Amino acid sequence: MDIVNQVEKEVRKYIEEYKNNSEDNYDFWNEHVKYVYKESIDLAKKYNADEEVVRLGALLHDIALIRQVGDKKDHHINGKIIAEEILSKYLYPVDKMNRVLNCIYNHRSSKNGTTLEELCVADADILAHFDNISMLFNLAYNRYNINLNEVREWMRNAFEKDYNDLSEKTKESFKEKYTQICKIVLGD
Ligand SMILES: [Fe+2]
Ligand SMILES: [Fe+2]
Repeated sequence: MDIVNQVEKEVRKYIEEYKNNSEDNYDFWNEHVKYVYKESIDLAKKYNADEEVVRLGALLHDIALIRQVGDKKDHHINGKIIAEEILSKYLYPVDKMNRVLNCIYNHRSSKNGTTLEELCVADADILAHFDNISMLFNLAYNRYNINLNEVREWMRNAFEKDYNDLSEKTKESFKEKYTQICKIVLGD
């Protein structure tokens, strides 16, 4: 797991740089990556996926956004390239590296993934939103300038889209919590 610690350190260094250079001091680690990391480890254990591959995939999945390379819409593609550079530097074995790279490339929807490890990272990326609902409100109010009278509808659409993007088995186990969250946050 040494490689995981090294990569975590490196990712956190880039996150610090991003934070210091961003207008709103956005902390990618505390607002997003730490939740994806935690959720992905839980899923890896639950689904018997390769934990090292999943951990590395989770740590690196948004690396192109953090390093601000290319367009947001292409961050899975650029992320794969950056992650390959990072993992090669640590002489990470090519077969395992390719499995990590596929987690990054396919992280934007569980439906794109073919392996258990890809599914864990993609599902964790979604579950992380529900772990940090205050971040979603920040996004709505401060980035998209949504009004108070529209924010519930915006949030409902965001929740539904996220929930529908989960894999079938994670959807099933998350269903009860999802219903509770909708009740509390949206007043359903
Ligand atoms: Fe992403
Ligand atoms: Fe993400």
